[in-house]
Amino acid sequence: MRSRLSHIASLGVLFSIAVLASAGCSKKEDAATPGKDSAAKPASMDSAKLSAAPATASAISGAAAEGQKIFYSTSYGRIKSACASCHTDGQPTTKDTRLRVGHTLVGVRNRTSAWNGEFKADALEKNAYGATMCAVMYLHKGDDIATVMPKNDIDALNAYYDAIKGNSGALRTDLKIDWVTKPKVHEKDKFDEKAANAAAKVILRLPGDPTAGKEVFSTTCAYCHAFHEKKVGPALDKAFEEPLMGARAIRAGSDAMPFYTKDLLSDQQIADIIAYIQQELGK
Ligand code: HEC
Ligand code: HEC
Repeated sequence: MRSRLSHIASLGVLFSIAVLASAGCSKKEDAATPGKDSAAKPASMDSAKLSAAPATASAISGAAAEGQKIFYSTSYGRIKSACASCHTDGQPTTKDTRLRVGHTLVGVRNRTSAWNGEFKADALEKNAYGATMCAVMYLHKGDDIATVMPKNDIDALNAYYDAIKGNSGALRTDLKIDWVTKPKVHEKDKFDEKAANAAAKVILRLPGDPTAGKEVFSTTCAYCHAFHEKKVGPALDKAFEEPLMGARAIRAGSDAMPFYTKDLLSDQQIADIIAYIQQELGK
């Protein structure tokens, strides 16, 4: 617990530094055409785009409007990402060609379980269908799932899920979430190292195609990673050590690095991404 907290604190410091350091580039980001896919010109935080109220905002009021604010906020936690960085709500603002890590939240209220069975029955509503897990693991908003989000925020998100349930712009509603292992939230949590390593080894047995990998990288990873500069995630020339660890991080996650389930990225696509990264880094 203690080590994770200090880790979070040091990340906070790192992020403040990164924000200061990137202040000089803010003009460039503001100039990004709203609605234009960030893959072509990835903005590190997409703040210009995400802070713009969605076109249909006027139809949403009360608690749902509060939930929408949370969904698009890049300052809800300590990591400068929004729920909208990783999930779509089927609004025009999240309907682009970027492949998001998390599944669509359109229709999430129909689910009987979330996070691979971690949240069921009453726990779904009480955790905004698993959003509390994201607030701890990916946004580093706090360390405890039970207290990380005030009840008002949870109610607001649940109301927002109701408000978006009919949105048609969700990229994927065919949810067959296929997990390798549940990610590790706290030091004490069991993380199935064997399953994660085995999944990475299967991926690396496939010959990767760097050209195909470049394409997938631009729609899935470029939002958070560049090769030689820090964005939401670290620069890959520093963070990418070797193929096994890379494949493992993509499939099973690694701290604030979210994971991609098999229905989002196939083994072949991950092999291609790894081949592309190796080519770019000469590793
Ligand atoms: C850095 C990426 C990331 C961020 C930021 C993030 N999530 Fe998630 N979220 C995930 C991943 C990965 C999963 C697990 C896979 C999945 O279920 O889609 C997940 C799962 C969920 C689920 C469970 C639904 C399901 O698919 O069964 C909900 C609900 C959710 N997130 C809501 C939120 C909300 C609300 C926020 C903002 C407060 C948020 N998330 C922020 C990546 C993220
Ligand atoms: C929503 C933002 C986000 C996306 C999308 C994302 N990453 Fe990351 N990634 C991160 C963050 C944040 C970290 C730092 C994790 C930490 O140590 O806290 C990270 C860490 C990593 C690491 C180092 C892992 C480790 O164990 O230290 C690798 C390699 C990596 N990412 C590759 C990728 C690749 C390849 C993709 C696309 C398939 C991708 N990431 C997509 C945010 C993201």
